[in-house]
Amino acid sequence: MGISIFRAGFSVLVILGFVVCDLGVCNGGFTSGYVRNDYVASDMPLDSDVFKPPPGRNAAQQVHITQGDLEGKSVIISWVTPEKPGSNRVVYWAENSPIRNKAEGSVVSYKYFNYTSGFIHHCTIENLEYDTKYFYVIGFGSLTRRFWFITPPKIGPDVPYTFGVIGDLGQTYDSNKTLTHYESNPTKGQAMLFVGDLSYADRYPFHDNTRWDTWGRFVERSAAYQPWIWTAGNHELDYAPDIGETEPFKPFLHLYRVPYNALDGSSPLWYSIKRASAHIIVLSSYSSYVKSSPQYKWLQSELPRVNRDQTPWLIVLMHTPMYSSYVHHYMEGESMRVVFEPWFVNYKVDVVFAGHVHAYERSERVSNIAYNIVNGLCSPMRNQDAPVYITIGDGGNSEGLVTEMTEPQPRYSAYREASFGHATLDIKNRTHAYFAWHRNQDEYSVEADALWLHNRQWIASKLAKSAPVSHLSSAA
Ligand SMILES: *[C@@H]1O[C@H](CO)[C@@H](O)[C@H](O)[C@H]1NC(C)=O
Ligand SMILES: *[C@@H]1O[C@H](CO)[C@@H](O)[C@H](O)[C@H]1NC(C)=O
Ligand SMILES: *[C@@H]1O[C@H](CO)[C@@H](O)[C@H](O)[C@H]1NC(C)=O
Ligand SMILES: [Fe+2]
Repeated sequence: MGISIFRAGFSVLVILGFVVCDLGVCNGGFTSGYVRNDYVASDMPLDSDVFKPPPGRNAAQQVHITQGDLEGKSVIISWVTPEKPGSNRVVYWAENSPIRNKAEGSVVSYKYFNYTSGFIHHCTIENLEYDTKYFYVIGFGSLTRRFWFITPPKIGPDVPYTFGVIGDLGQTYDSNKTLTHYESNPTKGQAMLFVGDLSYADRYPFHDNTRWDTWGRFVERSAAYQPWIWTAGNHELDYAPDIGETEPFKPFLHLYRVPYNALDGSSPLWYSIKRASAHIIVLSSYSSYVKSSPQYKWLQSELPRVNRDQTPWLIVLMHTPMYSSYVHHYMEGESMRVVFEPWFVNYKVDVVFAGHVHAYERSERVSNIAYNIVNGLCSPMRNQDAPVYITIGDGGNSEGLVTEMTEPQPRYSAYREASFGHATLDIKNRTHAYFAWHRNQDEYSVEADALWLHNRQWIASKLAKSAPVSHLSSAA
């Protein structure tokens, strides 16, 4: 219902837009007139319910899981015991199976200025069955904690799967609303694509790392039950030479593991996974990507490995957007765009999700790859081979929203709005996926912006062989 009201409002605005265009002030897409009355977000205090440690001395806390291998048959389970190493074991079993499996993890800890972390456990469980509910237990005796997750279906071109998308979450009251809206969304996300900037602990004096711990406890209610796919943002850098901290990404890399494979040149900061019908590439905006850098070489070899017959959907996650028309962070993604955009277009990446800019924006399919310094061809052009770029840095962190937009709205920008929220990407089959963005002020089911994504790889190259595709022209 919300959407039809919105659509009605939209058409009125479109008509107004044509009038304005005739007067010579031609904007691109749609700038939402939605106005929040308060966009200052404050962190939840330390004694908030969402930060409460589980009962029992040294009980496992900050439990989170992520995909543990390339194909989704493995899960990395992580948790922290605050006082002592405690048990390193995970007991797990498939629902309806009498067999109890055991796996041993490893434990790490780190110091940051005058903070000493708890004991951080990472345990990879392997050879899981696809599409199966598993229970897992950490700790023993009175400290036992039990969780569950569902493995993805076996990889295949028509396997439906629903991803959640959140960025720049932080730990404010708004962050809590974003997570609640994600959990209560009738379109149930099965795994989270997280586009960077997790805890914002670095905004505290001396990067008070106890705010990494509170964040871990806050997101446990989702991240212990479905994998969160991690991307590093600038707030993961924790680079502070003035207090002797010169190892970039130190807390993040100790607390959050990802399934990279050093042998193929990936790293904890750039890697890929396949899940259901999607191939997901995670990039690092804060690591070198210049020609011949390790990340550049890895992406160059990774893209030809993507098999669109197996995984038709190619999704890229990064922190800093390549296309953003907000004033804040304007053009920060430009250097990476220059290096990687031709590949994205060449390989028909379906959608690029980024955060960093604390607002929402969706682009048209555009590319800006013709420019060679001397030819003057330096504006983005409509290009059906190009990805849709979505900025979703609106998780709700303590830096608040950015509201200042470049004017007029550039033609590549299809929709922009400064509200907190989250999105879902609902892949239906090899040709259709439905993207929807939800703002926190609305009812859980309301879609503030939505778009059918048509898989150009399949619609154009495969289906066209047998029959003309009438809806090609409407392919977003
Ligand atoms: C770390 O140092 C800061 C500044 O001196 C102080 O406020 C804080 O309490 C210290 N924290 C710990 C855990 O010692
Ligand atoms: C966070 O959200 C949950 C779920 O809606 C709610 O139970 C809890 O009280 C909230 N906590 C704070 C501090 O807002
Ligand atoms: C793919 O999903 C779309 C949207 O649900 C549907 O209209 C279409 O018929 C599906 N295609 C096939 C081949 O099932
Ligand atoms: Fe950021």
